[in-house]
Amino acid sequence: MSYKPETKAIRTQTGRTQEKEHSTPLFLTSSFVYDSAEDMAAAFADDSLEVNIYSRFSNPTVDEFIDKICVLENAEDGIATGTGMAAVFSTFMTFLAKGDHIISASAVFGSTHTILTKYLPKWGIDYSYFDMNKPESIEALIKPNTKMLYVETPSNPGLDIIDIEYVAKLCKQHNILLVVDNCFATPAVQQPINFGADLVLHSATKFIDGQGRVLGGVVVGRKELIQPMYLFVRNTGPSMSPFNAWVLTKSLETLYVRMDRHANNALKLAKALEGHAKITSVKYPFLETHPQYAVAKKQMSNGGGIVTFELKGGLESGRKFLNALQMLSMTNNLGDSRSIASHPASTTHSKLSAEEKAAVGITPGLVRVSVGLESIDDIVADIMQALEKC
Ligand SMILES: Cc1ncc(COP(=O)(O)O)c(C=O)c1O
Repeated sequence: MSYKPETKAIRTQTGRTQEKEHSTPLFLTSSFVYDSAEDMAAAFADDSLEVNIYSRFSNPTVDEFIDKICVLENAEDGIATGTGMAAVFSTFMTFLAKGDHIISASAVFGSTHTILTKYLPKWGIDYSYFDMNKPESIEALIKPNTKMLYVETPSNPGLDIIDIEYVAKLCKQHNILLVVDNCFATPAVQQPINFGADLVLHSATKFIDGQGRVLGGVVVGRKELIQPMYLFVRNTGPSMSPFNAWVLTKSLETLYVRMDRHANNALKLAKALEGHAKITSVKYPFLETHPQYAVAKKQMSNGGGIVTFELKGGLESGRKFLNALQMLSMTNNLGDSRSIASHPASTTHSKLSAEEKAAVGITPGLVRVSVGLESIDDIVADIMQALEKC
């Protein structure tokens, strides 16, 4: 039978052991044994992904997590990493070498920005940024040594959106790898491979876990692209722990239900905030006022769980707003069952220069709300009372 993705997110499971467990087992082991010296020698002679040797290389629980993400993202193969940043870094290190050039949207997660601007140039890899709102500016940045185009859509924290199909066509014409960070949407909402992306990566720490417990990352794509990534991760060691994989694969069983509720709550919050006297603008992919609303509607099945808004009073209002919250958590994570508010300009991004903040889309009054699974009435009430005090 051919099952729907939400069924596969629940029913894809490691082969049942002789114990006949119903829920998926956890293979919390660093290494695997062999029946004979010959079997052991054969395992080491073969670089195949099929033989379990050591959990830095592969592990059945981690494989189950990878298999599920592949099914949901419509990908052939994947690798899992200890964090989202390890997924980003492993992707760059596998496909970029000294003398290469990468084009990236300037609106990317802060640590990705740091890798692009501080580490890659140190190793002779050049980068160019483009504005997510001007995809037509990309073509002029392409050079003979351009190997990769990197985008987050929607971006963190600015919620900018790019037409994946448009950039995929451009990348194919110029033989450039298109890598999409799909962390904000999750495969329950958007499948970039269906629009032509070559590789899709995630910080699984966010909505994929969904309860703020573990860190993780994953990259999926065609087999021939994943094989060199597998060897990079196997040899350099940013592998995912089996325990984290077990938590994450259980989380995927509820991903579709959770993303529906996150998105319903987020849309209601965005609508409740529109026109509020204390704020200048509200941004949410499925609000008609979003500059890329039409693109969002084309490639996303809902608007996701993040809403941003701009406080009229800038930096000082941002601080007052956070201090006035009674229920929402003040923390820098996102994609949790608990609603979270953050004010990047005074916290996570306070050390960035004004130009750097502008490059990654951070304005003084920007507030990011990761809308949780609580009653929307309680979420809206807490935000409204905090707005009154700032
Ligand atoms: C869009 C995006 N990509 C990557 C990362 C990095 O993930 P991790 O914190 O799991 O390393 C984050 C973390 O917030 C993120 O939001």
